[in-house]
Amino acid sequence: MIGEMAEILEPGILKGVASSTINKLVRAGFTTIEAVAVTPAREIAEVAVMGKDTALKVCRLARMHVDPGFIPALEVLAMRMNMIKCTTGSNELDRILGGGVETGAITELIGEFGSGKTQICFTLSATAQLPIEEGGLGGNVCAIDTEGTFMPERIKQIAEQKGMDPDKVLERILVARAYNSEHQYILISSLPEICNKNGIKLVIVDSMIGHFRGEYIGRGNLAERQQKLGRCLSKLLRVAEAFNLAVVLTNQVLATPDTVYGDPNKPTGGHVMAHACTHRVFLRKGRQNTRLARVIDSPSLPEERIRFAITAAGIEDVEE
Ligand SMILES: Nc1ncnc2c1ncn2[C@@H]1O[C@H](COP(=O)(O)OP(=O)(O)OP(=O)(O)O)[C@@H](O)[C@H]1O
Ligand SMILES: [Mg+2]
Repeated sequence: MIGEMAEILEPGILKGVASSTINKLVRAGFTTIEAVAVTPAREIAEVAVMGKDTALKVCRLARMHVDPGFIPALEVLAMRMNMIKCTTGSNELDRILGGGVETGAITELIGEFGSGKTQICFTLSATAQLPIEEGGLGGNVCAIDTEGTFMPERIKQIAEQKGMDPDKVLERILVARAYNSEHQYILISSLPEICNKNGIKLVIVDSMIGHFRGEYIGRGNLAERQQKLGRCLSKLLRVAEAFNLAVVLTNQVLATPDTVYGDPNKPTGGHVMAHACTHRVFLRKGRQNTRLARVIDSPSLPEERIRFAITAAGIEDVEE
C-alpha cells in the first residue's frame, strides 16, 4: 500500500534488477522506491545514465511495488478521514479554507510583494507543530526557500508570542535553500525520504515559481518550463497524499494591464499550476497591517473575501 512509509531503494528490493543498476539510481539521487515510481522512465534514463529499457523496467517495477492501482472506495474514505487541518492563526482565514490548511493536498498562496505569503508560511511553520487537538498537525516542517527570505528570527518571535518554546520550534523545521530550478527539483525529489525520516507534516515551497520565471525567459522556453514545473508539482502532490501531509506553495502575480473585466493581477504558472493546486488563496494588501484573502477556483468552498492581520504573532484575525 502506498503511503505510510517510503521504502529505501537498495539492492535486491526490486526483483530482477541488477545491484549495479540500483546503485546507479541511488547515486543519481533516487534513494527511495517512491522516488523512482513518481519519475518518468525517460527522465530516469537521463539522470541515472542508463538504457531506456532498463529505466522502463525499473520504473514499472517500482510502481507495482508502491502502487496497487485501484483501491476500494472505503479505503479512500478512510484516507480522507485521516485528513487533518492546520490553523493559520486567523479564524477567518481558517474558515474560508474550510477549517485550515489541509493535509493530502496542495495549498497555493498567491499575491503581490508584501501581501503576506511568507508571513503565512512562517506562522504555519509554528502552528503545524502544535498537537492536533490544538489546531496543529502534530508534526515537523520542511521548508524549501528559493528567495533567501527564510527568517528564523521571525519564526522565533511568532513562536514566543504563541507561548511555544522558540528553540524547539526552530529545531523542528528543516530548511534548504534552492539556488536554481534544477536544485529546487532535486530538493523536491528528495522529499519522500526526508519526510519519511523526519516526521514531516508540512512542506513549504516559498516561492514555487521564482526560479522558473527567472530562468526560462521567452515563449520558446515556455513548454520546457511548464513541463519541469509540472514534474515538481506532481511529486509534491504524491508526497502530500502518501504521507498525509500539507503542502503550501507561494506564487506571484503578473499584471495584465489589458484586462477589461476582473482582476488585472493573474497568478503565474499558467494551467499547470492551476490544476496541480487543490486550494488557491488570493492575497491583497489592505489598510495598515491588514490583508485581504479570497479562496479562488475551489471545487468545494464558496468564494468569500475576508480580512486578517499581520502582527508580532504572525497571522491573526483583525481586531474590530
Ligand atoms: N514582526 C512583524 N510584525 C508585523 N508585521 C510584520 C512583521 N514582519 C513582517 N511584517 C509585515 O509583513 C509584510 C511582508 O509580508 P511577506 O513577507 O509575507 O510578503 P510576501 O507576500 O511574501 O512578499 P514577496 O512577494 O515579496 O515575497 C510586510 O508588510 C511587513 O510589514
Ligand atoms: Mg515572500
